[in-house]
Formats: sequence, C-alpha cells, structure tokens
Amino acid sequence: MSRAAAPRVHAHDFTPDVESFREDVLRGLALPQKEIPAKYFYDSRGSELFEEICGLEEYYPTRTETALLRKVASEIADRVGPNAVLIEYGAGASQKVRILLDRLEATAAFIPIDISGEHLLQAAKSLAADYPRLQIVPVAADYTERFELPVPSGLGSAKKVVFFPGSTIGNFSEPEAKDFLKKSAALLAGGGEMIVGVDLKKDERVLLDAYNDAKGVTARFNLNLLTRINTEIGADFDLAAFEHHAPWNPEAGRIEMHLVSRIRQSVTVAGRQFEFAEGESIHTENSYKFTVGEFQDLARSAGFDPVTVWTDDRDLFSIHYLRAA
Ligand code: AVJ
Repeated sequence: MSRAAAPRVHAHDFTPDVESFREDVLRGLALPQKEIPAKYFYDSRGSELFEEICGLEEYYPTRTETALLRKVASEIADRVGPNAVLIEYGAGASQKVRILLDRLEATAAFIPIDISGEHLLQAAKSLAADYPRLQIVPVAADYTERFELPVPSGLGSAKKVVFFPGSTIGNFSEPEAKDFLKKSAALLAGGGEMIVGVDLKKDERVLLDAYNDAKGVTARFNLNLLTRINTEIGADFDLAAFEHHAPWNPEAGRIEMHLVSRIRQSVTVAGRQFEFAEGESIHTENSYKFTVGEFQDLARSAGFDPVTVWTDDRDLFSIHYLRAA
C-alpha cells in the first residue's frame, strides 16, 4: 500500500494475516474431506484470474448481471434516492458499481470492501480519477469477519445501501449466508437497503460449462490456491499432480470446486505431512444457486423485506432489492 496516492482515498487495512491463512489451511487439510475456504483464492494473481473468468464466453454471470444492472439502474437510483452512503462487499475491480454511480444522485460516499488490499486500492484510485467529486473510503477486510465500517464524519445519519453483486453470496453455506445477511440487516437497521446479485438454478449443462471453461482459466484459478500456499505458508504442492474438478451437486443445489490428487502422494505444509490417496480431493469452493423464491425466503429469515427483484429474460441471474426490516 505504499503508493497510496490520491489524498481523497484513505485506505483502511484489516486484511487477514498469514497466520490465519496458515491456521485455516492446516485445519482444513486435517479434515476427512480436505477443504480450504474459497476466500483465499483472492491474492493478486487470483483476483486477476477471476477477472479473466468474468470475461469468458462460458461464464455467463458477469455479463448477464452487468446487462441487467444497466437495464434497471435508473429504477435502482430512484429507490436509493440522493445522498446515500454506498457500501460494496467484495468490490474487486469495482466495475459494476460504476453503472450505479453513473445514475445515483449525489452519492455521499462510497465504501468498497475487499479482501485483496492491493487490488482494491488500484480500483479505488481509478474510480477516484473518474468520479472526482465522490468521497471514496476503501477498506481492505474480510467482510465475513467483524470489522469496523469507517463511515465518514458527518454521514452518520445518511441512508446506507449495501451493494453485493456477483452472486458471491453463493459461496456461503446456508447458515453462513443467513448469519451474514443478519449482520448486514443489523448494519442497515433504520432504513438501510441492500442490492444483492444472485445466480439462479438452471440447466445443468450451462452451469457445468461456466465452471469448466475450454481455455482452462477456472482450472488455473483453482490451482493458484496451491501456488499461494506454497509461497505464503511454505509447502511443496506439485501443481501438475492435482487436477481441477467442478461438478454440480443437485441435492445441495451447488457447483463444487475440488482439486483432485492425480496420484497417491504426500505433501508437506508448514512442516506437516498430509497424505493424499489417488483421486482424493481438496474441496475449495461451493457456489450455491437459488430460485427467486428460495433467496427471498432466506432474506426474510435474516431480517430483510424483499422489495423487488429483477431477472434477465433468460432467467439466468437475479438482482434483489431488499430493505432491512
Ligand atoms: C465470485 C464466488 C461468485 O462462484 O461463480 C468463478 C467464483 N469460482 N469461477 C462463482 C468463481 C469459479 C464466483 N464467485
């Protein structure tokens, strides 16, 4: 964060440290079904690869959500109204929020939150250049954990609106999603609202293609987790000995990502040995898909009133507008 640049962009850094990464990895690899939390995909390289995924022919969510946002942006702007504080979870490159910022009337401040600090700061600088009158307060944090929301002074009573696009909510298990929505509802108590992008259940072939692209970018994204463990924690994962696997789990309603060991092998991570049978996997991600009704029920159970919902004309993706009850 050395080139912190533009004086209007004051970054707040609560990025998880390497110790929590090590603990989470060691704990996950010791489970009968080995697993690593999906949030660790997003180091700088991982964030870059994710952006490449977003541009893939097979990966419909980004394209579809972006087009839908463009279509309904003025309706969203009418609902949000003037002088709101806009908060984005998992802001990444902050491309989608531009569609809203272009329509919103006098946004009081924009608080982008992302786990990848470097990536976040670059995006904030580029936003600051394009929206010179907007107050931007980037926060590098794991928004699934407790962190302080630095609402700029004087804006304590402004309407808060959380923007959570990309169907990132699909990474959470149902109890995690509910807990996360409950915390968001508490943050937004007293008239705040939330705009959530949610990927829909659909034809299995379309889903499988989106997570098994022909160019192998998703495979590289998945395998990058092992590179990250090798360099940050100290491990000897041989990337060629693992293979990307992304099946649809119909009972759970989710795409899963795994790294499957091609051979029987043992790997040393932070001085500890882990054994892999041939075909044994590390479960690296769940990407839950919802029907509109399923997501609205979940939102209601967490203290939100569904205000309205928009879907594209192929019913691939949904954007929910929720109000904290
Ligand atoms: C950022 C969690 C929404 O689940 O589709 C893309 C991540 N994983 N390809 C998703 C992802 C594999 C993405 N989310």
